[in-house]
Amino acid sequence: MKSPSSLQKRLGLGLTLGMTLLWLGATVGAWLVVQHELNEAFDSALEETAQRILPLAVLEISNREEPREAQHIATLKTHKEYLTYLVRDAKGEILMKSHDANPKIFNKQPTEGFSTTGKYRLYGASALRGTLFIEIAEPLNHRREAAREALFALLLPLLALIPISLLGTWLFVRISLRSVLAYRRAVEARGVGDLSPINVARLPAEINPLAGAVNHLLERLRKALEAERSFTANSAHELRTPLAATLAQIQRLRHETPEGPLRVRAAKIENSLRELARLSEKLMQLAKAEGGGLLSEAPQDLIPLLAHVVDEWNHSSRQRIELQLPRQASVYSAIDPDAFGVLLRNLIENALKYGAADQPVEVSLSDQALLQVVNGGPTVPAPVLQRLTERFVRGNSEASGSGLGLAIAKTIVQGVGASLTLASPAPGRTQGFEVRVQFQLALDDHGDKIDG
Ligand SMILES: Nc1ncnc2c1ncn2[C@@H]1O[C@H](COP(=O)(O)OP(=O)(O)O)[C@@H](O)[C@H]1O
Ligand SMILES: [Mg+2]
Repeated sequence: MKSPSSLQKRLGLGLTLGMTLLWLGATVGAWLVVQHELNEAFDSALEETAQRILPLAVLEISNREEPREAQHIATLKTHKEYLTYLVRDAKGEILMKSHDANPKIFNKQPTEGFSTTGKYRLYGASALRGTLFIEIAEPLNHRREAAREALFALLLPLLALIPISLLGTWLFVRISLRSVLAYRRAVEARGVGDLSPINVARLPAEINPLAGAVNHLLERLRKALEAERSFTANSAHELRTPLAATLAQIQRLRHETPEGPLRVRAAKIENSLRELARLSEKLMQLAKAEGGGLLSEAPQDLIPLLAHVVDEWNHSSRQRIELQLPRQASVYSAIDPDAFGVLLRNLIENALKYGAADQPVEVSLSDQALLQVVNGGPTVPAPVLQRLTERFVRGNSEASGSGLGLAIAKTIVQGVGASLTLASPAPGRTQGFEVRVQFQLALDDHGDKIDG
């Protein structure tokens, strides 16, 4: 798939390119007009000069004793001439010329009006009924330089405009897309726990309908999830009573049957029923955890909650759990006490069930609200480890189970904004399994840690 191109880049390049082309077009147009006007101004100056000199030349030549002799006009001061001129008769004989005038640059025969040669612009005029001609020459490079400079002056701003336009579009698009970015963040922040409609102020009109559609979708998703959850919770709840009743019946049956194969079968059925009861209990825990409400209103001290659960388990597991508490008196976090109990029971149950029976289970809580549950036992391969928190995923163990314990733990952890990490082998060991849960420390009104 082609990677999506950036709107910012496309608009920046497109607008700058368009502006540059338009500017170039306008420059060419303006330059043609300027060149035309310049030529007109230069031509009119040339014509004016010829018309001024001609009567003087006529006067001078007719006053001469020997008019047929070419004459240089004496200069008052040596200088380089810009305009040069030639006065000739109808046959082309030179009667008078300016001191720098080079006859080669003029037309062979005197002509009237404007004409252009390779390097000069010429203007000719006549007097005395076509017997005297004046021709005046102006070098073209002066005009060309003026035209060139006009062109540069028009092109120069473009050098500054290109980067300014690129930067301007980039910035403008960035600012305009701010609300879209905020919207994206809001969408990303939504999860199973939060499917509330997304409201972002001042979305562009093009995006707004999309936002409406997304909210609609979120609403449908929320309803579907709610239906699924309540179905699971209700089913598990409805199963509870008949399961308990059947279990009691089968227990009585087992006691009443004499020793023999029938009793073994009754015991097997009893076991299966217990497992079924455990599964329905886990399903209920999961449904409850996914329903939200995992955060407590007031921060809870985790230490007594932890001590209580560990105590409970130690009674039934012959003191296999070693508890390590922080030196500080209390560690506060905003988690519902029941949810914390469910989380902890699932983790400890796993550690006792899958950990090496001859090694203790280490449960510890740090003053930074980091909970660790460590047990011995064989290492779990990384690919398996990664998937253990998914529902109904189990490692390759003989022990019975549903594959829901870690999924429940993960749901609770996510619901309270904590983080869960599994490691195998346990850090600092060659074997074993470690579960870490980093809770968020509750802060008091001043943003400081709450100390007990
Ligand atoms: N403390 C542990 N030590 C070793 N393996 C574990 C531990 N906790 C969980 N596991 C592995 O993760 C799998 C999933 O655990 P869980 O979700 O609680 O489901 P269940 O316990 O019902 O199998 C277990 O089957 C086991 O293979
Ligand atoms: Mg389990």
